[in-house]
Amino acid sequence: MIYLDHAATAGPRRPEVIEAVAAVLRDGLGNPGRSGHSLSLRAARLLEESRCVVASFFGISDPARLVFTPGATASINLVLRGYLRPGDTVLASSWEHNAVMRPLRWMERDGGVRVEIVPPRRDDAGYPRGVDLERLRERLDTGPAVRMVALVAASNVTGESLPVREIATLAHAGGAAVLVDAAQGAGVLDIQAERDGIDFLAVTGHKSLEGPAGIGALAMLHPDQLEPLIRGGTGSRSEEEEQPSFTPDRFEAGTPNLPGIAGLAAAIGLLNRVGIETVASRHRELRGRLVARLRETPGLIVHHSADERGDEPGWLAVVSFTADGCDPGALSWALDRRGIACRPGLHCAPRAHRTLGTWPKGTVRFSPGPACTEAEIDAAVAALREATNEVRGGG
Ligand code: ALA
Repeated sequence: MIYLDHAATAGPRRPEVIEAVAAVLRDGLGNPGRSGHSLSLRAARLLEESRCVVASFFGISDPARLVFTPGATASINLVLRGYLRPGDTVLASSWEHNAVMRPLRWMERDGGVRVEIVPPRRDDAGYPRGVDLERLRERLDTGPAVRMVALVAASNVTGESLPVREIATLAHAGGAAVLVDAAQGAGVLDIQAERDGIDFLAVTGHKSLEGPAGIGALAMLHPDQLEPLIRGGTGSRSEEEEQPSFTPDRFEAGTPNLPGIAGLAAAIGLLNRVGIETVASRHRELRGRLVARLRETPGLIVHHSADERGDEPGWLAVVSFTADGCDPGALSWALDRRGIACRPGLHCAPRAHRTLGTWPKGTVRFSPGPACTEAEIDAAVAALREATNEVRGGG
């Protein structure tokens, strides 16, 4: 199988990650922060060492301001529900995934929160790109006060990254906090919460970080401004029936996912050794190759700006396209029969597809991981030509 669905979840994990997960399960490390034996102490040490690795990778100087969660969706729900109050206004980019849009729409309907979408800018060819920073600035300067700006670090549909630092500067000047959904982009883009002014940074372990699924993190500049979503046992202050007020315990009730945490820390350790710029540069090469090959294929539309070469900085190896006369789902299964794994449809991001003009059917998305080869890209595009013929009824 040529695996081109890295944006949904990474391909086979590296032996170091598998071993880190297996070691926790095999060695029976005990429950961190609870109990009175050395195995529990070893578990606590592993938990805190892992926290330091992840916090440092995302530019958080005090590891206590990095809490583990089941994933980016859980981190985002914690922030939106723990920070926003009835009457608050949130601005969201027009590329948001449902991890942001669904909690926001629910809070809009039942929680008195107002949601506004910031339009993209248009490039010379009229294609939607990123965020219209002028419109954002104007909106922050006028109209009802904005309490939060929420944005993806990079779109899971087009692979375009958003200018997080500029947006954070504008948001802070307008008195709003910033939530970045870095489910896509963490592990490829250089994202540093303190340097970039990201008040709340949500990440997941199982995509470009190449860790296990079911583990993620939330990095916070101001944990005191957030109410916990889940309360319960922490192993600390057990004499009290109130949740501890200090981090990370304030946000980490219940036994943590130590196998996942150890796997995530091992994956980040590998990334640190390789260097994030190497990963980013591999993404650009793969994207460039993919875009060039897709453009040579008749009857396809590659859904991003016409003047984008495909290998500029800030774009991930995530490319969406449609083929004349082909339903994206049917095309994806025709590709599967030829040994190509990809994701069709709306990618849980109907807002992004509306922006792109590909709603309601969506696109086919190819998202190779850094280990993918040029030959595999070429083979996948050759298979795509056959698959489109099959779906169009040509054989
Ligand atoms: N959000 C993931 C994707 O883009 C699952 O496929």
